[in-house]
Formats: sequence, C-alpha cells, structure tokens
Amino acid sequence: MSILVTGGAGYIGSHTVVELLNAGREVVIIDNFSNSKPEVLERIKQITGKDFKFYEIDYLNRKELEKVFEENEIEAVMNFAGYKAVGESVQNPLKYYNNNVSGAIGLLETMNKYNVKKFIFSSSATVYGEPEKIPITEDCKTGGTTNPYGTTKLFIEQILQDLYKSDETWDIAILRYFNPVGAHESGLIGEEPQGIPSNLMPYVVRVASGDLEQLSVFGNDYDTPDGTGVRDYIHVVDLAQGHIKALEKLEKEKTGIYTYNLGTGVGYSVLDMVKAFEEVTGKKVKYKIVERRPGDIAICYSNPQKAKIELGWQAIKTLKDMCKASWGYMQK
Ligand code: UFG
Repeated sequence: MSILVTGGAGYIGSHTVVELLNAGREVVIIDNFSNSKPEVLERIKQITGKDFKFYEIDYLNRKELEKVFEENEIEAVMNFAGYKAVGESVQNPLKYYNNNVSGAIGLLETMNKYNVKKFIFSSSATVYGEPEKIPITEDCKTGGTTNPYGTTKLFIEQILQDLYKSDETWDIAILRYFNPVGAHESGLIGEEPQGIPSNLMPYVVRVASGDLEQLSVFGNDYDTPDGTGVRDYIHVVDLAQGHIKALEKLEKEKTGIYTYNLGTGVGYSVLDMVKAFEEVTGKKVKYKIVERRPGDIAICYSNPQKAKIELGWQAIKTLKDMCKASWGYMQK
C-alpha cells in the first residue's frame, strides 16, 4: 500500500516524502512542477537512498488522476498541491479557488471512487483570522480570513467536515501549520520562492546573502514586546514528522475527523528572527522599519498540546536550527 503525495516536489511536500521514505513507507508522488523543480525528486532519492513512483500531472486533470489510483494501491492521500502566495491570491482569486478548492474536491471525489478514505490536509493558522486568544487552541473560532488563499483553506476545512458528516467511513486529519521555515539538514532540499520572497525567512536569507539590499520590517507599533509582529516559526522537518504521526493516528483509529495545530507554542518577533539569524550565520541583516502590511495580525502562536497528547508529536528544533538550515540551503 502506498501513500499518495500531491505536490510532493514542493517545499513541505518534499520534506514529508523524505520522512515517509525514512519511515519505510511506499510513496507515489504527483506534481506538475508549477512551483517546484524536477531536481527535487533526485535529491529526495539522494537523501533517503530510496525510490518512489512519480507522475508529472496536474491534480486537476481528473482522467490522469484516476490513472494513478488505477495503477497503484493507495492507502492514504496527503495533499500539498495548493497554491500558497497570499499576495497573488488577492490579485488572482479564481486561480486560487480553482486550484485549491476545485482541486481538493476533485481529489476527494476520486478517492471516494476508489474507496480510499484516509486524507491528510495541509491547512493553516490563517483560518483563525484575528485569533480569539493566544496561544491558539484548535477550538478557537475560525473565519475572518483576510485573503483568498486563507479562505481556500477555510472552505476546504468546511468541505471536509461536511464530507465526514455524510460518510463516517472517512479518516481525516486537518493540520493547521503555523510558519514553516528551515530546510533539510543535508542542504539538498528547501524553500525556493519564485521572484522576490514575501515571507520573512526567505527574505532575510536573501538579504544576508547580498541578493537583496535590506529587509522591510512591516511595522514596529504592534502591541508586542518590541512592537514587531510575533509568529510561531516551525522547522519544516518537525512539521513533516507531524504528518507521519497524523498518518499513524488515522491508521490506528477506526474513523474520525481530527484537527491539529502544528506549531512550537513559542512566538518570536521579526526582530528576534533577525537577531537569531545574525548570531547563527555571522552575517549582518540590514533592515528598516516601514508601514504595517495590510492583513497582518500582531501575534499568532499555537498551543500545540493537542498534537502532543493525541499524536505524540512535538516540535523539537530551535530557532537557531531553523536559521542554520535556511542558510545552509541557500549556501548550497
Ligand atoms: N515580515 C516583515 N517583512 C517581510 C516579510 C514579513 O516584517 O518582508 C513580517 C510580517 O509582518 C509578519 C512576520 O514577518 O509579522 C511573518 O510574515 P510572513 O509573511 O513570513 O508570514 P505570515 O505570518 O504573514 O504568513 C504565514 C504564511 C501564510 C499562512 C500564515 C499562517 O505565509 O501562508 O503564516 O498564519 F497563512
């Protein structure tokens, strides 16, 4: 039996495939390289010394997707095929609703057709909107997303809840990621945003490397210890391991739908990040304070206790590990 990983050549997908292979799982990847590169597949093999099946297809193509289910014995599906650029989703919402929401619906329909009913979904802390409380627990209200990307995550969560209500033979894990950063310790796979990065860590890395002149810190007048935004940065390898634990839970339990925060439970400010990065790399990160970025919230960090208790998972890597890994990947 194989685990089907959509978007398996992407940032979080590739790290999760490494953990799946290391755990002795058989993996089938589909990817259309819309935001990833074919070399990643070779690197996964290099890291793990293991092989997997690969299909270069768009998961929106129902006919080709069905072929994957025809040709393989799929036990469970992990869906990393979503678009994730917040700004682009504002410019082009239909692209996001089509790829993320229609894509998920098509995938779920196909799974249903082939009686594959274990699904792990990549959601985001963005579904909490302006958080009801900090640290955020899974029962906090969701909604009030500030961009179409976030709304696609919210819609898919709702679709999954409705699906489970209609058919309780499904097993579904909704994983709400906080802020994934870092890279594999080999330096062979990592995050490669196209164009100028919009997320903090990739931007900091490119300033340190001299590619970009300076970081714009979006506001220093938030109600936080140093005035800059606070987030729960999580090492992508910790995050990937969370998926393995979630899969094990779906295999053990009879059926159910479960939601977990995947975060560290610790919040760091933008300036904390800059400082940690400078300490670890010995590089200067030039920055200037600018206006707040529209749609940003002051503080967002998780209470990760539910995942710890129910999945036996917790993030173990430190902020220094994250900085070191992001820099290591850049240098390679
Ligand atoms: N920031 C800067 N300058 C930059 C980029 C970011 O000061 O150039 C600040 C932001 O204002 C924020 C923090 O750094 O305070 C983190 O910003 P990111 O863009 O890295 O991440 P966000 O928290 O805005 O968003 C991330 C993901 C989303 C996801 C969300 C979940 O990008 O996909 O976390 O909370 F939905």
